[in-house]
Amino acid sequence: MTAKIIDGRAIAQEVRAEWKVRADELKVRGTTPGLAVIIVGDDPASKVYVANKVKACAELGLYSEHIVLSADTSEEALLKKILELNEDPKIHGILVQLPVPKHINSSKVLDAISPEKDVDGFHPMNVGALATGSMRFAPCTPYGVMKLLEKSGVLIEGKHAVVIGRSNIVGKPMALLLLQANATVTICTSKTIDLAKHTRDADILVVATGKAKMISGDMIKPGAAVIDVGMNRMDNGKLCGDVDFDSAKEVAGWITPVPGGVGPMTITMLVANTVQAAEQLSTLKRHL
Ligand code: GUN
Repeated sequence: MTAKIIDGRAIAQEVRAEWKVRADELKVRGTTPGLAVIIVGDDPASKVYVANKVKACAELGLYSEHIVLSADTSEEALLKKILELNEDPKIHGILVQLPVPKHINSSKVLDAISPEKDVDGFHPMNVGALATGSMRFAPCTPYGVMKLLEKSGVLIEGKHAVVIGRSNIVGKPMALLLLQANATVTICTSKTIDLAKHTRDADILVVATGKAKMISGDMIKPGAAVIDVGMNRMDNGKLCGDVDFDSAKEVAGWITPVPGGVGPMTITMLVANTVQAAEQLSTLKRHL
Protein backbone atom coordinates (compact mmCIF):
# COMPACT_ATOMS: atom_id res chain seq x y z
CA MET A 1 0.00 0.00 0.00
CA THR A 2 1.18 3.51 -0.68
CA ALA A 3 -0.33 6.11 1.61
CA LYS A 4 -2.28 9.16 0.52
CA ILE A 5 -0.08 12.14 1.32
CA ILE A 6 -1.99 14.69 3.37
CA ASP A 7 -1.09 18.07 1.88
CA GLY A 8 -1.03 20.41 4.88
CA ARG A 9 -0.22 23.46 2.77
CA ALA A 10 -3.25 22.98 0.50
CA ILE A 11 -5.61 22.23 3.41
CA ALA A 12 -4.24 25.24 5.31
CA GLN A 13 -5.05 27.49 2.32
CA GLU A 14 -8.59 26.10 2.20
CA VAL A 15 -9.17 26.60 5.93
CA ARG A 16 -7.60 30.09 5.86
CA ALA A 17 -9.99 31.08 3.05
CA GLU A 18 -12.94 29.98 5.21
CA TRP A 19 -11.72 32.10 8.14
CA LYS A 20 -10.91 35.08 5.90
CA VAL A 21 -14.63 35.29 5.08
CA ARG A 22 -15.40 35.54 8.80
CA ALA A 23 -12.60 38.07 9.37
CA ASP A 24 -13.91 40.21 6.48
CA GLU A 25 -17.44 40.10 7.91
CA LEU A 26 -16.10 41.37 11.23
CA LYS A 27 -14.20 44.15 9.50
CA VAL A 28 -17.36 45.32 7.74
CA ARG A 29 -18.92 45.61 11.20
CA GLY A 30 -15.95 47.72 12.41
CA THR A 31 -13.73 45.16 14.15
CA THR A 32 -10.37 44.14 12.68
CA PRO A 33 -9.22 41.00 14.52
CA GLY A 34 -5.89 41.70 16.23
CA LEU A 35 -3.19 39.34 17.52
CA ALA A 36 -0.23 40.20 19.76
CA VAL A 37 2.67 37.75 19.66
CA ILE A 38 5.32 38.11 22.35
CA ILE A 39 8.73 36.50 22.10
CA VAL A 40 11.23 36.68 24.95
CA GLY A 41 14.86 36.02 23.99
CA ASP A 42 16.34 35.06 20.65
CA ASP A 43 15.91 31.31 20.18
CA PRO A 44 16.33 30.94 16.38
CA ALA A 45 13.54 28.36 15.92
CA SER A 46 11.08 30.42 17.98
CA LYS A 47 11.95 33.52 15.94
CA VAL A 48 11.05 31.71 12.71
CA TYR A 49 7.75 30.39 14.16
CA VAL A 50 6.77 33.83 15.45
CA ALA A 51 7.66 35.58 12.17
CA ASN A 52 5.46 33.05 10.31
CA LYS A 53 2.56 33.65 12.71
CA VAL A 54 2.72 37.41 12.18
CA LYS A 55 3.01 36.94 8.39
CA ALA A 56 -0.09 34.70 8.30
CA CYS A 57 -2.09 37.40 10.11
CA ALA A 58 -0.98 40.02 7.59
CA GLU A 59 -1.98 37.75 4.68
CA LEU A 60 -5.52 37.53 6.03
CA GLY A 61 -5.70 41.28 6.66
CA LEU A 62 -5.60 40.91 10.44
CA TYR A 63 -3.94 43.48 12.71
CA SER A 64 -0.89 42.14 14.53
CA GLU A 65 1.74 43.30 16.98
CA HIS A 66 5.08 41.50 17.14
CA ILE A 67 6.59 42.23 20.54
CA VAL A 68 10.24 41.26 20.93
CA LEU A 69 11.63 41.33 24.49
CA SER A 70 15.25 40.70 25.40
CA ALA A 71 16.24 37.42 27.10
CA ASP A 72 16.90 39.24 30.40
CA THR A 73 13.38 40.73 30.57
CA SER A 74 12.02 40.30 34.11
CA GLU A 75 8.92 38.21 34.82
CA GLU A 76 7.32 41.36 36.25
CA ALA A 77 7.90 43.33 33.03
CA LEU A 78 6.44 40.51 30.92
CA LEU A 79 3.37 40.23 33.18
CA LYS A 80 2.88 44.03 32.95
CA LYS A 81 2.97 43.85 29.14
CA ILE A 82 0.38 41.06 29.17
CA LEU A 83 -1.93 43.04 31.45
CA GLU A 84 -1.69 46.03 29.07
CA LEU A 85 -2.61 43.81 26.12
CA ASN A 86 -5.52 42.31 28.09
CA GLU A 87 -6.99 45.84 28.22
CA ASP A 88 -6.11 46.84 24.63
CA PRO A 89 -9.27 46.93 22.44
CA LYS A 90 -7.25 46.47 19.21
CA ILE A 91 -5.98 43.09 20.50
CA HIS A 92 -8.26 40.02 20.57
CA GLY A 93 -5.62 37.33 20.84
CA ILE A 94 -2.42 37.16 22.90
CA LEU A 95 0.28 34.53 22.45
CA VAL A 96 3.54 34.24 24.38
CA GLN A 97 5.87 31.99 22.42
CA LEU A 98 7.12 29.08 24.54
CA PRO A 99 9.58 28.23 25.92
CA VAL A 100 10.30 31.43 27.88
CA PRO A 101 13.73 31.89 29.56
CA LYS A 102 14.24 29.84 32.73
CA HIS A 103 13.98 32.78 35.16
CA ILE A 104 10.36 33.31 34.07
CA ASN A 105 7.60 31.07 35.46
CA SER A 106 5.63 30.04 32.37
CA SER A 107 2.54 29.04 34.42
CA LYS A 108 2.32 32.54 35.86
CA VAL A 109 2.61 33.98 32.37
CA LEU A 110 -0.12 31.76 30.93
CA ASP A 111 -2.39 32.46 33.93
CA ALA A 112 -2.02 36.22 33.32
CA ILE A 113 -3.43 36.12 29.78
CA SER A 114 -7.14 36.93 29.76
CA PRO A 115 -8.98 33.64 29.02
CA GLU A 116 -11.06 35.49 26.40
CA LYS A 117 -7.84 36.40 24.52
CA ASP A 118 -6.01 33.10 25.11
CA VAL A 119 -5.81 31.97 21.47
CA ASP A 120 -3.28 29.27 22.38
CA GLY A 121 -5.86 27.67 24.69
CA PHE A 122 -3.22 27.28 27.43
CA HIS A 123 -4.95 29.20 30.26
CA PRO A 124 -6.13 26.76 32.99
CA MET A 125 -9.74 27.86 32.40
CA ASN A 126 -9.50 26.95 28.72
CA VAL A 127 -7.66 23.70 29.49
CA GLY A 128 -10.48 22.85 31.91
CA ALA A 129 -13.12 23.80 29.33
CA LEU A 130 -11.48 21.47 26.80
CA ALA A 131 -11.31 18.65 29.35
CA THR A 132 -15.00 19.00 30.23
CA GLY A 133 -16.14 19.23 26.62
CA SER A 134 -17.11 22.91 26.57
CA MET A 135 -14.12 24.11 24.63
CA ARG A 136 -13.55 27.77 23.80
CA PHE A 137 -10.08 27.70 22.16
CA ALA A 138 -8.41 24.45 21.16
CA PRO A 139 -4.61 24.57 21.22
CA CYS A 140 -3.51 25.30 17.66
CA THR A 141 -1.44 22.23 16.77
CA PRO A 142 -3.94 19.56 17.90
CA TYR A 143 -6.78 21.66 16.45
CA GLY A 144 -4.87 21.68 13.15
CA VAL A 145 -4.45 17.90 13.30
CA MET A 146 -8.21 17.47 13.77
CA LYS A 147 -8.82 19.65 10.69
CA LEU A 148 -6.31 17.61 8.64
CA LEU A 149 -8.12 14.40 9.59
CA GLU A 150 -11.54 15.91 8.84
CA LYS A 151 -10.52 17.38 5.48
CA SER A 152 -8.80 14.13 4.46
CA GLY A 153 -11.93 12.09 5.18
CA VAL A 154 -10.37 10.06 8.01
CA LEU A 155 -13.17 8.77 10.23
CA ILE A 156 -12.47 9.13 13.95
CA GLU A 157 -15.56 7.84 15.76
CA GLY A 158 -15.00 4.42 17.31
CA LYS A 159 -11.42 4.21 16.02
CA HIS A 160 -8.36 3.53 18.15
CA ALA A 161 -6.23 6.68 18.26
CA VAL A 162 -2.74 6.48 19.75
CA VAL A 163 -0.98 9.70 20.70
CA ILE A 164 2.74 9.54 21.45
CA GLY A 165 3.73 12.47 23.67
CA ARG A 166 2.06 14.07 26.66
CA SER A 167 3.05 17.73 26.42
CA ASN A 168 0.58 20.42 27.40
CA ILE A 169 1.01 21.97 23.93
CA VAL A 170 0.31 18.87 21.82
CA GLY A 171 -0.09 15.42 23.42
CA LYS A 172 -2.63 16.07 26.18
CA PRO A 173 -4.96 18.40 24.24
CA MET A 174 -4.66 16.10 21.19
CA ALA A 175 -5.88 13.15 23.24
CA LEU A 176 -8.79 15.20 24.61
CA LEU A 177 -9.89 16.37 21.16
CA LEU A 178 -9.80 12.81 19.81
CA LEU A 179 -11.74 11.60 22.84
CA GLN A 180 -14.30 14.36 22.26
CA ALA A 181 -14.63 13.05 18.68
CA ASN A 182 -15.48 9.60 20.10
CA ALA A 183 -12.17 7.86 19.45
CA THR A 184 -10.80 5.30 21.87
CA VAL A 185 -7.59 6.97 22.96
CA THR A 186 -4.25 5.68 24.21
CA ILE A 187 -1.50 8.08 25.28
CA CYS A 188 2.06 6.77 25.11
CA THR A 189 5.19 8.42 26.47
CA SER A 190 8.95 7.90 26.26
CA LYS A 191 8.53 5.47 29.19
CA THR A 192 5.93 3.25 27.51
CA ILE A 193 6.97 -0.41 27.53
CA ASP A 194 6.75 -2.06 24.10
CA LEU A 195 5.71 1.07 22.23
CA ALA A 196 5.35 -0.85 18.95
CA LYS A 197 2.60 -3.03 20.47
CA HIS A 198 0.52 0.12 20.93
CA THR A 199 1.42 1.84 17.65
CA ARG A 200 0.63 -1.31 15.63
CA ASP A 201 -2.87 -1.24 17.07
CA ALA A 202 -3.52 2.40 16.10
CA ASP A 203 -6.04 3.32 13.40
CA ILE A 204 -4.91 6.91 13.92
CA LEU A 205 -1.35 7.52 15.10
CA VAL A 206 -0.26 11.01 16.17
CA VAL A 207 3.44 11.31 16.90
CA ALA A 208 4.79 14.24 18.91
CA THR A 209 7.99 13.10 20.56
CA GLY A 210 10.73 15.33 19.12
CA LYS A 211 12.82 12.25 18.26
CA ALA A 212 13.75 12.09 14.58
CA LYS A 213 12.34 9.13 12.60
CA MET A 214 11.55 7.07 15.72
CA ILE A 215 8.43 5.49 14.18
CA SER A 216 9.20 3.15 11.29
CA GLY A 217 6.88 1.38 8.86
CA ASP A 218 7.00 -1.90 10.82
CA MET A 219 5.43 -0.09 13.80
CA ILE A 220 2.36 1.00 11.81
CA LYS A 221 -0.95 -0.80 11.22
CA PRO A 222 -1.67 -1.20 7.48
CA GLY A 223 -4.08 1.53 6.37
CA ALA A 224 -3.62 3.73 9.46
CA ALA A 225 -3.67 7.53 9.37
CA VAL A 226 -0.23 8.70 10.52
CA ILE A 227 0.14 12.31 11.65
CA ASP A 228 3.67 13.50 12.27
CA VAL A 229 3.93 16.55 14.54
CA GLY A 230 7.74 16.35 14.73
CA MET A 231 10.09 18.90 13.24
CA ASN A 232 13.73 17.89 13.59
CA ARG A 233 16.81 19.30 11.89
CA MET A 234 19.13 16.56 10.56
CA ASP A 235 22.93 16.82 10.31
CA ASN A 236 22.62 17.65 6.61
CA GLY A 237 20.45 20.68 7.52
CA LYS A 238 17.21 19.13 6.17
CA LEU A 239 14.03 18.91 8.24
CA CYS A 240 12.48 15.57 9.15
CA GLY A 241 9.64 14.39 11.33
CA ASP A 242 9.34 11.88 14.17
CA VAL A 243 8.15 9.29 11.63
CA ASP A 244 10.43 7.61 9.10
CA PHE A 245 8.40 8.82 6.13
CA ASP A 246 9.87 6.49 3.48
CA SER A 247 9.09 3.23 5.29
CA ALA A 248 5.84 4.51 6.87
CA LYS A 249 4.26 5.60 3.58
CA GLU A 250 4.44 2.02 2.29
CA VAL A 251 2.18 0.81 5.12
CA ALA A 252 -0.04 3.71 6.16
CA GLY A 253 -3.33 4.70 4.52
CA TRP A 254 -2.68 8.42 5.02
CA ILE A 255 0.45 10.25 6.12
CA THR A 256 1.56 13.83 6.69
CA PRO A 257 4.93 14.94 5.29
CA VAL A 258 7.46 17.10 7.16
CA PRO A 259 7.64 19.89 6.22
CA GLY A 260 4.26 20.64 4.63
CA GLY A 261 2.01 18.61 6.92
CA VAL A 262 1.02 19.77 10.41
CA GLY A 263 3.19 22.94 10.45
CA PRO A 264 1.04 25.12 8.16
CA MET A 265 -2.08 24.05 10.07
CA THR A 266 -0.77 25.24 13.46
CA ILE A 267 -0.48 28.77 12.14
CA THR A 268 -3.82 28.55 10.38
CA MET A 269 -5.63 27.55 13.56
CA LEU A 270 -3.99 30.43 15.41
CA VAL A 271 -5.51 32.79 12.85
CA ALA A 272 -8.84 30.95 13.26
CA ASN A 273 -8.73 31.29 17.05
CA THR A 274 -7.90 35.00 16.73
CA VAL A 275 -10.89 35.62 14.45
CA GLN A 276 -13.07 33.58 16.82
CA ALA A 277 -11.82 35.62 19.80
CA ALA A 278 -12.62 38.84 17.94
CA GLU A 279 -16.12 37.56 17.10
CA GLN A 280 -16.78 36.66 20.73
CA LEU A 281 -15.34 39.88 22.16
CA SER A 282 -17.23 42.08 19.68
CA THR A 283 -20.51 40.28 20.44
CA LEU A 284 -19.85 40.76 24.16
CA LYS A 285 -19.23 44.49 23.57
CA ARG A 286 -22.51 44.86 21.64
CA HIS A 287 -24.44 43.31 24.54
CA LEU A 288 -22.86 45.58 27.20
N1 GUN B 1 5.98 26.74 21.21
C1 GUN B 1 5.83 25.65 20.42
N2 GUN B 1 4.55 25.52 20.01
C2 GUN B 1 3.87 26.56 20.55
C3 GUN B 1 2.51 26.98 20.50
O1 GUN B 1 1.65 26.35 19.86
N3 GUN B 1 2.21 28.11 21.19
C4 GUN B 1 3.15 28.81 21.90
N4 GUN B 1 2.75 29.90 22.55
N5 GUN B 1 4.41 28.44 21.98
C5 GUN B 1 4.78 27.33 21.30
